[in-house]
Amino acid sequence: MKNILHIISSARGEQSYSSQLSSAILEKLLQQGNINTVTVRDLVKDAPPYADEMSIHEFYKHPELYDEQSRQLLSYANLIVDEVRKADIIIIGTPVFNLGISTPLKAWLDQLIRAGITYVFDEQGNRVGRFTGKKVYLAVASGGRRTEGAPDYISAYLRDVFRSYAGITDVETYHIEGTMENGFTADYESVLKDFNPVNDIS
Ligand SMILES: Cc1cc2nc3c(=O)[nH]c(=O)nc-3n(C[C@H](O)[C@H](O)[C@H](O)COP(=O)(O)O)c2cc1C
Repeated sequence: MKNILHIISSARGEQSYSSQLSSAILEKLLQQGNINTVTVRDLVKDAPPYADEMSIHEFYKHPELYDEQSRQLLSYANLIVDEVRKADIIIIGTPVFNLGISTPLKAWLDQLIRAGITYVFDEQGNRVGRFTGKKVYLAVASGGRRTEGAPDYISAYLRDVFRSYAGITDVETYHIEGTMENGFTADYESVLKDFNPVNDIS
């Protein structure tokens, strides 16, 4: 039985194409069965804190030195780390904003990725991700369409962050493109026609 974490990061509520696409992915997984829990983290309704001077100081502290202030400043970071740790499957919806991810999603990542927590260094000094064996589905909505051969910055960036700093190598992206075109209608079934459900993660 798998646990799913569903991350919503568009400010557009029920109008959001990225949220609708990520919900369609969730629906496919639920239809597949074998799902234990679904946790929803809406980064707009419950915004992540920005990494400010005090919290960055705590991020760098050795856990043995944590005090009451550390616990307060790290409470959001620890909460989302626990959610990701518990999840077998993470579905992330994001709009394309100026070729990148949404602001709350970036803030969530900056709270999540931490030395000693999502990755450690081995004796040879190599970075080793600690959240291996998870699957990430990205649901990305853009007003325009990428031209043939144009870089997919969001997919490349998130793949690299999850692989390099968390050890998550299985990242699959689905795009809903052209949302700002005249007369646009979203066809999630066709976007997900080759949807790849997860049965095989350990
Ligand atoms: C500040 C801002 C920046 C945007 N930047 C881009 C962009 O770089 N490329 C693009 O194709 N669409 C861009 N858009 C359009 C959104 O990607 C599009 O409206 C998308 O559907 C938003 O996702 P959502 O429906 O999940 O909210 C931008 C929209 C806003 C408000």
